[in-house]
Amino acid sequence: MRSHASRPHFARASAGRLSPAAAHAPADIRKLFPALADSTEIYLDSAATTQKPLPVIETIHRYHSSRTANAGRGTYPWATSLTTRLSRIRDRTAAFIGAEHPDEVVFTGGATAALNAVTLSWGLAVLEDGDEILYSPADHASNVHPWHHLRGLLARFGRRIELIPSRVTAGGEADTADILAKVTPRTRLITASHLHHVYGGLTTLAPLRGKLDPAILLCVDCSQSGGHVPVDVTELGADFAIFAAHKMFGAPGTGILYCHRRVHDKLVPFLPGGNSGVLVSEAGLVPAAMPALLEGGTHNIPGILAFGSALEVLESFDIGAIAAHNRELTVRLIDTLRPIDGLEFLPGPAFTPSPVGYGIVSFTLDGITATDLGFVLSELGFLVRTGLHCTAADGAQADDSVRVSTHIYNTADEIDRFTKCVMMIAEEVR
Ligand code: ALA
Repeated sequence: MRSHASRPHFARASAGRLSPAAAHAPADIRKLFPALADSTEIYLDSAATTQKPLPVIETIHRYHSSRTANAGRGTYPWATSLTTRLSRIRDRTAAFIGAEHPDEVVFTGGATAALNAVTLSWGLAVLEDGDEILYSPADHASNVHPWHHLRGLLARFGRRIELIPSRVTAGGEADTADILAKVTPRTRLITASHLHHVYGGLTTLAPLRGKLDPAILLCVDCSQSGGHVPVDVTELGADFAIFAAHKMFGAPGTGILYCHRRVHDKLVPFLPGGNSGVLVSEAGLVPAAMPALLEGGTHNIPGILAFGSALEVLESFDIGAIAAHNRELTVRLIDTLRPIDGLEFLPGPAFTPSPVGYGIVSFTLDGITATDLGFVLSELGFLVRTGLHCTAADGAQADDSVRVSTHIYNTADEIDRFTKCVMMIAEEVR
């Protein structure tokens, strides 16, 4: 750990909102993220995980080095103060994502765990023979595999559900017209990425709300949008929404599952254990009230505390400023990559009529595989993700690609250096 004297931005981030000027001073921002401050590489893989700011690192360290205890159990001050802190972070999370009530916020072991909680706590309990789920096969495996797993589990009990695939537009968004056309009286839930993890297109299902039977639930995977653009689950019309702390400056192993109150009475525990219910001899397992019902076992306490610190940092920057910065970088990236011969964009903001962008762009380059291009780029100091990016699509639909993803710590100069490098490689492989 560095000494406090060498980390002025920890104090600033904790003390209150950074001024917009400070928030955009690249050197200052870099100092807040020690892994960047100590390196010469250019990190362009924030969709895989974001860099961690000092307050987050220090919170994790402090939990393990001072007054370590469990939360929600003991009655001594070390334990009760942690219980209070977790409760405050739940309140803060609710406010950050636009939830109306803190009991709609469930702490999970990550976004994948949160999506599996939707399928196992809701789907397994309520879906009946013939029911349909609308999903996008091009989404992240975490929003595809759990639904296929659920279908397999239900089939063992003689219940057959249908998974109806929906399309993606050239702009990388869920095709809402296609979704609407595929809704039937048996549709029970529609699930989609808010911000697509490869294409970088932003989808809002909210306009569908007025056109759908109100009983149809909406599940929105905000793993890539949380901490990148303002997200308001109430405005999104979500019944379920999912967030990944490690993509919001927090630590891996912590996720958020938002469950609108209207679904609470449909849910069963998916991780029965300590605190998720009580065993009553005549009644069997009686679930606790939400959110404890879905939080069996000891919480990832350092992960949740770190998420609280991550929210402070995000709020210090101002989420609107982060979105504007990512938009500027994405548009610049697309504009500078576009003239390169042999470079092809995957669906996404490169194909939208007006310049938009949310910090994710994927492409291929003729004459070199995405994997090899990734190796060459990393040799030259540019860290990007390559491959299928955890898409679940069967080989026929998936393309290997290079994905560039940005955050507040990236700069226009880094984007220019990156595109120059891609241009140079394109000339060499031609
Ligand atoms: N889900 C992360 C990604 O898209 C790991 O890279």
